[in-house]
Amino acid sequence: MKRVLSIFGTRPEAIKLAPVVLEVRKHPDRFEDLVCVTAQHREMLDQVLDWFEIVPQYDLNLMQPNQSLAEFAGRALLAIGSLLEDVKPDVVLVQGDTSTAMIAALAAFYRRCPVGHVEAGLRTRDRYNPFPEEINRRIVSTLATFHFAPTPQAAEALRAEQVPEENIFITGNTVVDALLMTVSRPVLMDLGFSLEAKRLILVTAHRRESFGAPFESLCSALRDIADRNADVEIVYPVHLNPNVREPVMRVLAGHPRIHLLEPLRYEQFSHLMARAYLILTDSGGIQEEAPVLGKPTLVMRETTERPEAVAAGTARLVGTDRARIVAEAERLLHDEKAYRAMAQAGSPFGDGHTAERIADILSKRL
Ligand code: UD1
Ligand code: UDP
Repeated sequence: MKRVLSIFGTRPEAIKLAPVVLEVRKHPDRFEDLVCVTAQHREMLDQVLDWFEIVPQYDLNLMQPNQSLAEFAGRALLAIGSLLEDVKPDVVLVQGDTSTAMIAALAAFYRRCPVGHVEAGLRTRDRYNPFPEEINRRIVSTLATFHFAPTPQAAEALRAEQVPEENIFITGNTVVDALLMTVSRPVLMDLGFSLEAKRLILVTAHRRESFGAPFESLCSALRDIADRNADVEIVYPVHLNPNVREPVMRVLAGHPRIHLLEPLRYEQFSHLMARAYLILTDSGGIQEEAPVLGKPTLVMRETTERPEAVAAGTARLVGTDRARIVAEAERLLHDEKAYRAMAQAGSPFGDGHTAERIADILSKRL
């Protein structure tokens, strides 16, 4: 029996590792399933753990308000290092490109423990976009043994970096598993306002490289879109990072058709995505989920490591310029043909069986 230790810390890692944790748990004959959370996020992580009914054996509880990259990374390396000393797993699983993923992979490497990287091979090739995630994922690729690439393009990026072919697996993205599991279950939701007869634009934004002027610009664009379109309601669950909350509240609070909410539980957010007319976001995960639900998405970033959605025609990269965001949203609100072309483009990120593939690969390779 092999000890599989999944280590994660933020909301998106929890969503994307939950299907793997649940799959590994189905095979007690092959695996001992262990979970450690750094709690790089606290509330936003706990919402997800609760929905997927995952109770971590180890909770390092490391989040501090407005934490810096270095402070969190330092605390996490020490804490994960000593945990690995005790637990001695056969493999550590990490997901994506957060500080938790990068530090957990490094701590495992220091103990010569193999690392499995879920969502491997995403690249923009721009070290400051997204910051610091582009470098985090390259570091994880250097440290990992098993590379679970969501798409052929991601696998190709790993080959180009000399990752051995026998360690690259094209599996799809576990976010599709998580989303399909979630939207298939009924959800109770009272937002406190009615969306009947209105077109819903669902918004999220939180990227570090956009803090400051780009954030002000995208917030102003949202206000313009609401002002110009009386049949539109904008719903924006605001990330808990104080660098996000300050400009969002200052520019957008008080508008009668812009609803600024606390972060929504995953099941509620998924159901709102399914109900949305259009999504505006800088999120990585939402770029992958929206095509599964057939929702056109405007990506408010300068680059994306998920070019598959843009190539498929379901997402458009619009940057953070106010006039550009408004123009692109107006087009989709008023040009039915352009809207339909994006809505019908389809999903390039997998079939919802990614976690099964990962568990199979682990049982063969460990
Ligand atoms: C992190 C990840 C980013 C990911 C994002 C997902 C890094 C460097 N960044 O960014 O890749 O896209 O999570 O959302 O790993 N906070 C709370 N409660 C929470 C969560 C956050 O209060 O549940 C506040 C705290 O003040 C915290 C701050 O947000 O210090 C920033 O959290 P942090 O994880 O450092 O960065 P994110 O911007 O969330
Ligand atoms: N999400 C959520 N509640 C919200 C907003 C987003 O559950 O209020 C989910 C969303 O469906 C996606 C994930 O959180 O699966 C994306 O997380 P985030 O945008 O914070 O991080 P990123 O994917 O950019 O790293």
